[in-house]
Amino acid sequence: GCDPTTNPLDIFRIRIATQLSSVTNIDPATIYRAIDIPRQLDHGDFALALPRLRVKGNPAQLAKEWAAAFVPVDDYILEATPIGPFLNYRINTRLLIKHTLELASARVEAFGANASGAGKKAIVEFSSPNIAKPFHAGHLRSTIIGSFIRNVYAANGWDVIAMNYLGDWGKQYGLLAIGYSRHGCEQKLLEDPIKHLYDVYVQINRDAEDEPTIHDEARAYFKKMEDGDESALALWRRFRDLSIVKYQEVYGRLNIEFDVYSGESQVGKGMEEAMAMLESTGLLQESQGAKVIDLEKYKLGVSVVQKSDGTTLYITRDIGAAKERYERYKFDKMIYVVAAQQDLHLKQLFKTLELMGFDWADRVEHVNFGMVQGMSTRKGTVVFLEDILDEAQEVMHDQMRKNEAKYAEIPEPLRVADEIGISGVKIQDNAARRVKNYAFDRNRMFSFEGDTGPYIQYAHARLCSIERKSGLKVNLDADTNLLTEEGALNIMRTVAQYPDLVKSLMNAYEPCNVVTYALNLSHDISAVFDTLWVRGTEPAVADARLLMYWCARVTLGNAMRLLGLRPLERM
Ligand code: ARG
Repeated sequence: GCDPTTNPLDIFRIRIATQLSSVTNIDPATIYRAIDIPRQLDHGDFALALPRLRVKGNPAQLAKEWAAAFVPVDDYILEATPIGPFLNYRINTRLLIKHTLELASARVEAFGANASGAGKKAIVEFSSPNIAKPFHAGHLRSTIIGSFIRNVYAANGWDVIAMNYLGDWGKQYGLLAIGYSRHGCEQKLLEDPIKHLYDVYVQINRDAEDEPTIHDEARAYFKKMEDGDESALALWRRFRDLSIVKYQEVYGRLNIEFDVYSGESQVGKGMEEAMAMLESTGLLQESQGAKVIDLEKYKLGVSVVQKSDGTTLYITRDIGAAKERYERYKFDKMIYVVAAQQDLHLKQLFKTLELMGFDWADRVEHVNFGMVQGMSTRKGTVVFLEDILDEAQEVMHDQMRKNEAKYAEIPEPLRVADEIGISGVKIQDNAARRVKNYAFDRNRMFSFEGDTGPYIQYAHARLCSIERKSGLKVNLDADTNLLTEEGALNIMRTVAQYPDLVKSLMNAYEPCNVVTYALNLSHDISAVFDTLWVRGTEPAVADARLLMYWCARVTLGNAMRLLGLRPLERM
């Protein structure tokens, strides 16, 4: 994975690996993989961990020998020092700055990306709300994390299909249809289908408390749907289509796009074929008229795949959907971004696919996440995502208006307020490791200080303002040797690490790693704003600094885009 044409650190690592390989005969790729960036830079810029090379001999002793055998071949790697089982390398930081600026300014929005996944295809399935039921915090997390994973795969060169697997099938649509015949209103359906269908759903569930026969009617209605009854399907199709239009609006607001709107209802022949396979392989068992797969042996319980009335279930549709997706897309990887509450469901699904003998069964993966506690607006418990977004926007807009002079210069202040609010929501959601539950904290989320979305947006806007106010154009031929300050080097070291970060995300899919990175870069930048001026500085130095700020801005912007934020130029 070494690529000095996209990753500035590789320009150095490749030299370390080649040099050491010539002394030791160890494969340079092995050496390359054992090179880390130490947290403490006092000893060196790169550290080679000898135990990771798995060679015979005492690592500390070898480190000494290899250090003694080190001879600089050019002026990139200056020194090798043994420290215990490590060999620490000091590099020419002038060249690090120069090459990093060269690569970042040449690649701009592609800086950080690599082509390691070229020719490979991934399906990332995320968001997947249930039509007529609230889009809750779990769906929001799936949406945010899922779009992040999609961006990560794309940045690593994969061809990615972002798929929304709507919960748009099942008995509850029978219930909804009956509810609509009683409480439905055409006008309201057109105005806001999601809200209206939710109201209808709540009302019919209330009716059903006194009239339990409604549930039988609902089951019968769903049976009609599964049997392909056109009139039953026509109504359901309208609910679905109108809901998708509305979802797209909210996703657009959140800067999220899907390549495919799939859904439980869209699973077709794959399901019958899967059932036939299950039957013929003897995996299927009868149990009180229902059909089940016994996964007790794997401590995964028993999963029901067909009810006694012949209708299908959530898992049945998932099995069929997976089969159809493979046949259609031949994916190299398929990721399900679903809350940890469904861990068992996905384990059952994956085990079933494996038992069915699909040779792609090891290409599926569940990316889970914890719960959000206490998500509410000032008015009360949240039912609709839009309420949270509207409130975030309002809080930000009030905040912005406090500085009237600045406010007057912002084009589209409401759009900007919305973006800052959404950044607050997204960064709070991604601040900790995925699996952790977290408590919704509006004060923290919307703060312009501390580890928040608004703070990162602010750092970005401030970089844009430096560019604007300098009155200069970025000069790609600036003399980068003039960036001599410690603060400048810190920024450039962080920028240089961005391509490594992007690559490492494929191992853990942790958005918090990018949040931490964006915050670190923002801190590096804030630390020098007051000392490393552009305006009013000697022209050659001003050029060099402007180039540095510009590359920092490009990199911060790339990290933000990875997290699904739209970097703001003014706020
Ligand atoms: N619609 C489901 C829910 O809201 C999530 C779907 C997850 N994806 C899947 N392939 N089962 O709970």
